[in-house]
Amino acid sequence: MSDNDTPHKAADYDGEIHKTIPFYHLFHAETIDLVRTLLPDVSVWPDTGCGTGYLAEQALPLLPRVCFLLADPSLAMLEQARGRLARFPSADVRFLGAGTMEEPIGVVPEAPQVISAIQCHHYGPEESRRRATTTCYHLLEPDGIYVTSENIRLHVHRQSCESVAGREGPQRHRAI
Ligand SMILES: C[S@@+](CC[C@H](N)C(=O)[O-])C[C@H]1O[C@@H](n2cnc3c(N)ncnc32)[C@H](O)[C@@H]1O
Repeated sequence: MSDNDTPHKAADYDGEIHKTIPFYHLFHAETIDLVRTLLPDVSVWPDTGCGTGYLAEQALPLLPRVCFLLADPSLAMLEQARGRLARFPSADVRFLGAGTMEEPIGVVPEAPQVISAIQCHHYGPEESRRRATTTCYHLLEPDGIYVTSENIRLHVHRQSCESVAGREGPQRHRAI
């Protein structure tokens, strides 16, 4: 059984996720590029659903003033993140603890300029996602940036997929 909401155990997550989602690292690379371009002096950046801490590890060397605030509901994921980020100064990485943006998580010391929620808000129902997004909106500094990505299921009827694929076409749904 997994120790978090993903099908992969926290200790295996980094090795396995690329098999499930090719180019997974691009979520993080693009996020960091965006922030470096628009807010290179970001000083407070909560990463909710931080998983194993990969985003923070990649961003920290590139953003000289940043302090990451990390949260995740899975203790096993947080443990991986702590190990991965142990080499960075404690002033640059703080752990808010096991929580989500749906409920108040640890103390956010000052208004963040950036909040990220990469591939983590799709686990709950719509109402939870709405609450999490609202919390992020109210926490952010004016003109701050909220970066998020989620898995979505397309609302496409099977019939319309088949008519696009053709009767003899592939027996699977296609995104149209
Ligand atoms: C697919 S992983 C993504 C981890 C990380 N953001 C990354 O990009 O590598 C999903 C993470 O979301 C966390 N999670 C699950 N439900 C969550 C929620 N409601 N809010 C925030 N994080 C959540 C899981 O514990 C897991 O660490």
